[in-house]
Amino acid sequence: MRDAAAQTITYVQADGAAQQVRARPGVSLMEAALRAGVPGIEAKCRGNCACVTCHVYIDPRWRAVLGVPDAMEESMLDFAEGVSLRSRLSCQIRINGLCDGLIVEVPAEQRVLGM
Ligand code: FES
Repeated sequence: MRDAAAQTITYVQADGAAQQVRARPGVSLMEAALRAGVPGIEAKCRGNCACVTCHVYIDPRWRAVLGVPDAMEESMLDFAEGVSLRSRLSCQIRINGLCDGLIVEVPAEQRVLGM
C-alpha cells in the first residue's frame, strides 16, 4: 500500500544517474539516502554536523520549503569540496510535507575531515 505521507525525493549523481526515494516527513535527507542505499552520501558523523560528508546541492528555490542553513551548517560548509550557493548538508534538512518532487544532487566527491 502506498504511504500517503511519504514524499518522493530524487537523488541525482554527478554522472546523471537518478534514484527516487520515498521518505516520510521528519526524516533527514541524509537518513533517507542512507536507508535507500543512495551512493555518495557517507555521513561519517551520522548527522551531527561535524563531517561534511553528506554535502549535497539543492536549487535555492527550495529554500522557501526547506529553510536556510543555520550558522553551524554555514560554517561547516566552508570545509566541503566544491561548495557553491546550492550547497547544503543533507543531515541538517528534515523532510516535510512539501518536499514531494525535491531534487538533491550528490557531488562527485565528498571531502573527509580528519575524524
Ligand atoms: S552527516 Fe556529518 S555533517 Fe552531515
